[in-house]
Amino acid sequence: MNKTVTLTYEGKQIELPVVTGSEGEEAIDISRLRAETGLITLDPGYVNTGSCLSAITFMNGEKGILRYRGIPVEQLAEHSSFKETAYLLINGHLPNRDELTQFSVMLNDHSLVHTDMKAFYQNYPRASHPMGILSSMVNALRSFYPALDTEEQIDIAMTRLLAKVRTMAAMSYKISRGHELVLPRPDLTFCENFLNMMFDTPVTPYEIKREVVNALRVFWILHADHEQNCSTSSVRMVGSARVNLYAAISSGIAALWGPLHGGANQAVIEMLTEIQTGGGGYKKAIERAKDKKDPFRLMGFGHRVYKTYDPRAKIMKKTCDELLESLRLEDPLLDVAKKLEETALSDQYFIDHNLYPNVDFYSGIVLRAIGIPTNMFTVMFALGRLPGWIAQWKESKDDPNWKIARPRQIYNGETEYAYVPIHAR
Ligand code: CMC
Repeated sequence: MNKTVTLTYEGKQIELPVVTGSEGEEAIDISRLRAETGLITLDPGYVNTGSCLSAITFMNGEKGILRYRGIPVEQLAEHSSFKETAYLLINGHLPNRDELTQFSVMLNDHSLVHTDMKAFYQNYPRASHPMGILSSMVNALRSFYPALDTEEQIDIAMTRLLAKVRTMAAMSYKISRGHELVLPRPDLTFCENFLNMMFDTPVTPYEIKREVVNALRVFWILHADHEQNCSTSSVRMVGSARVNLYAAISSGIAALWGPLHGGANQAVIEMLTEIQTGGGGYKKAIERAKDKKDPFRLMGFGHRVYKTYDPRAKIMKKTCDELLESLRLEDPLLDVAKKLEETALSDQYFIDHNLYPNVDFYSGIVLRAIGIPTNMFTVMFALGRLPGWIAQWKESKDDPNWKIARPRQIYNGETEYAYVPIHAR
């Protein structure tokens, strides 16, 4: 039986249909609400608002479940490659051998970056943040690769993005250090290639270590999609105006930069460093996070959807321990992080507010161990999230009911009054 909700307003009753998802999630379909009652809904931060139907990612924040196209993220992190996971997200199914080979060939074919782009990178002010550079350079891709009209051209553009943004991120790092660029190599895997482009130099050839490649693979898979978060919703919203793919993805990168979103991985390391070196220790950080008069928050803690331990954080913590052990590295920030987590999880405030570590709490320590500079952490998140953004953009574009996103508002400003000339004010 089709479920409905009955709304009574000013003596009139209307029936609103209930939409049920494949995992039993339910939503009230309010698309007729305004036409029938004159009412709109008000939901700042979209806390209770579903913006689309989507078959890409399922998450359950109460049970700590995350699945891409139905496959638990734990299984993908254990067995899949980042390339295969990207294919899964974008195309909706795991590739067979031929499809994966074809995808690899396309990624290799499109991995070079137009040499004219180098001049842009060289002319950014030295202090520019890599996320600002990435967002504008991805937008600039439209000028270099304008063919976006046919389905085939769009398919190429999606692969091109995955291949080129990885090269662009490494290129940006090399140029910021004044080093020679290292070109992508077709004999290396997707993750190996990135590490080699970042760290190989004519003086010290980069030694590709299995554990490091594995940590990067896991990091990218864990970040590959997370349904309708701030950056993904930006990609969908900006995309709905029918801008080109590059512009839509560029808006996602800009949104991800924020410290409440992807920028949290950089903020966590800065917070842990401050705790370690700045005095006061982790207990003071906990007290500050609880103090409502203090804007400080425990970075890497809390999540809009997860009200239990973030399943990605569990895997990230394990990856972090394994990586540091296999590289025989000791990072003092890991001790600070573990003490901070232990203290927070037994504190009544954090228990009452369901605040647990999120994916960003341990990811910064993994990235440090890999050798990634702190100001590039969020770029690493963006590289991982690219397949998700692309898949979400493609899903919205292919929806026969693709509508321009246009929320409404409740106006609470001045009511009408007459213009007063300046001499009379
Ligand atoms: N430290 C201290 N208190 C917190 C924290 C925190 N990290 N996060 C939430 N709270 C409190 C908040 O003060 C509020 O308390 P009260 O109800 O007493 O006023 C309550 O918990 C609910 O917080 P909220 O801000 O209404 O929750 P939200 O769903 O709007 O925000 C969040 C989610 C992730 C922005 C927030 O938890 C936060 O700011 N965390 C720190 C930043 C962070 O780690 N971001 C990365 C998120 S995971 C990566 C990604 O996918 O983006």
